[in-house]
Parts: sequence; C-alpha cells; structure tokens
Amino acid sequence: MSGNRTFTMIKPDAVRAGHIGNILKMITDAGFMIRAMKYTRLSSDKAGQFYAVHAERPFYSELVEFMSSGPIVAAILEKDNAVVDFRTLIGATNPEDAAPGTIRALYASNVGENAVHGSDSDENAVIEGAFHFAGTEVF
Ligand code: RTP
Ligand code: MG
Repeated sequence: MSGNRTFTMIKPDAVRAGHIGNILKMITDAGFMIRAMKYTRLSSDKAGQFYAVHAERPFYSELVEFMSSGPIVAAILEKDNAVVDFRTLIGATNPEDAAPGTIRALYASNVGENAVHGSDSDENAVIEGAFHFAGTEVF
C-alpha cells in the first residue's frame, strides 16, 4: 500500500465557499481513486492533534481554530505516486505561489485558508488516514 495512497482534507474555507464538488472532480479527473471519504467536523482537540507537528509555529492556534471552524471532507486517495502527484495537483501552500490551474490557485484564499490538505510523505499518509478512518471505512 505504501507509495500509492495519500490523505486529503477539503478545508472549511473551501467547503463554506461551495467548492466540494469542483475539487472532488479535479481529484478524480487527475486519476485518483477514492478509497475512503467522510463529511465531518474536527473538534479543536482533534485539529490540534492532527497538526501537532506545527505546535511551536506562530500560526498554530490560528490553524487549529480555522480547521475546527466548520465541516471538512476527509478522504484517502489512491494513484501511482499518490503523495507527490497530489501535492502537484494542489499547488504551493501559499496560493500566491501556487502554479496556475492547481486546486489552491483556483480555490484558496490565502496561506492560512488554503482550501485543501495533502500528506507530505508516504509515512504521514498512512498515519493521517488512520487518524480519520477505521479499517472498516477504507476500501
Ligand atoms: P497542509 O499540511 O495543510 O497540506 O499544508 P502544507 O503541507 O502545504 O503546509 P504546512 O507547512 O504543512 O502547513 C500546514 C498548514 O498551516 C497553515 N499555515 N499557515 N499563516 C501561515 O504562515 C501559515 N503557514 C502555514 C496552512 O493552512 C497550511 O496548509
Ligand atoms: Mg503539511
């Protein structure tokens, strides 16, 4: 499984703006298969745990507040080279630096509210998928 799966969230800003359908279409058009998916809302505790790696960064409390501010779509995606290809599809963290046509270039508002999450390694893809989904919810 390692190497062909990644984990994503459509973040609260993109959900609020009505972009779920367009973003999922970009993801499936790019060749990703959806192996797990749910519409849910993170508590601030859960959002804090998910982004614990950033706990010492100045934007951490803002990030936790934002990620728990409304519903998200969480999903596990499969494709050859999933982690790298998905990071290419979403574009740079700051939408001002995101390549034209990427999800963040199209739908992100700013560096904090940037529409989507994508795992940054195969190892984290597994950890993040397991954080959100029980084994029985993954196909
Ligand atoms: P993500 O984990 O959400 O896919 O984003 P990323 O890898 O592109 O960026 P990362 O460095 O992991 O940062 C995680 C999230 O924290 C927020 N952030 N805010 N205000 C800021 O300067 C700042 N920098 C990062 C963003 O929501 C970013 O996606
Ligand atoms: Mg990251």
